[in-house]
Amino acid sequence: MKVALLGFGTVGKGAAGIIDQGRDKDTAGLEIVRILKRTPADDPRITLDYQDIEACDVELVAECMGGLEPAHTYVRKALEAGRHVVTANKKMLAEHYMELAELAKEKNVRLLFEATAGGGIPWMAALRRVRRIDDVESFRGILNGTTNYILSAMTDEGLDFGEMLKKAQELGYAEADPTDDIDGYDVRYKTVLSAVAAFDAAVRPATVPALGIRHISAADIAWGKENNRIVKLIAAGEKKDGRLSLYVMPQFLHDSDVMARIGKNFNGVEAVSTTLGPSTYIGQGAGSLPTGHAMVQDMLTIAKGEEVTAYEASAAEVDNSGVEKCFYIRTARPEVFAAVRAENAGADAFVTKRMGLNDLLALIEKAADPELFAAVVAD
Ligand code: HSE
Repeated sequence: MKVALLGFGTVGKGAAGIIDQGRDKDTAGLEIVRILKRTPADDPRITLDYQDIEACDVELVAECMGGLEPAHTYVRKALEAGRHVVTANKKMLAEHYMELAELAKEKNVRLLFEATAGGGIPWMAALRRVRRIDDVESFRGILNGTTNYILSAMTDEGLDFGEMLKKAQELGYAEADPTDDIDGYDVRYKTVLSAVAAFDAAVRPATVPALGIRHISAADIAWGKENNRIVKLIAAGEKKDGRLSLYVMPQFLHDSDVMARIGKNFNGVEAVSTTLGPSTYIGQGAGSLPTGHAMVQDMLTIAKGEEVTAYEASAAEVDNSGVEKCFYIRTARPEVFAAVRAENAGADAFVTKRMGLNDLLALIEKAADPELFAAVVAD
């Protein structure tokens, strides 16, 4: 099957390398005939003009440009022209899921997005497989390689946040603007797309609460260690009693939790489903070849005409009113939290009594402390 590649950065080079070098003989039927890039390069397939992509004879467009525009417009055009699309662009797809999925359905083409969440882990494929038999009740996971790399180094080696962020950027894990990684927005997009695959629910990304790790300190990590806990940035989703809860927050996990042991740039995701119970998937969550691998897997699914069930999502609303936890807070405005404070956790830090996530978010907004760090203390 002939493929046009939109974007030739970290992920695009990974996918093209896997196909061009035929690392897996199964990829022999895939051929990249055109590559859209922003700057010239020494490869006859490269063009700087999207019209060359529109004019070429391909059945499949693989988008890994990143960002909202022009990626969204190009993906729309590809679907309108009756081309299958695979994308690694979590931000664009999470923002436009329903519109693009409906267009793909109307045109009777595939829109696959394995590479958007979990890097090389076949997370979307695992959910599809689980759902052939089960309903998914909940999922939780580490879905950002950059922050896991940083948190693991801070926890295991006592290394510095800024230094590890720089290394994660050099290794090609971080987004062009690492704000998306460290403030939890990257995981928010991945949570939205996981909810599509797990629950057939498409929510607006801005409605998923996302707190990141920007203000984590060595003191927070140390509190975790004293209490046999390890902090990870966790995506959580659950469908229960007619409510869809979705949120992204650091969590102090018990150090015996399998998720707490997932280090480096690795991701790990767990789905809980009716007859299987919990199933956990671990693998490289970011980087050129692992993410390229996920894209090529989607291309193969299409090229081989494999049946893809699920992805019949409808627009849905986030409802976190049933989420109750104890929370760890470090803030210069502790007085705002006086009514929910349960125990001290070192200088400027405390653990709350069990309380609703929505109530906590309201207090955080009221505190308006730009340096505040908040995390779930896992049950
Ligand atoms: N910046 C992302 C991460 C890339 O660190 O996980 C993979 O989606």
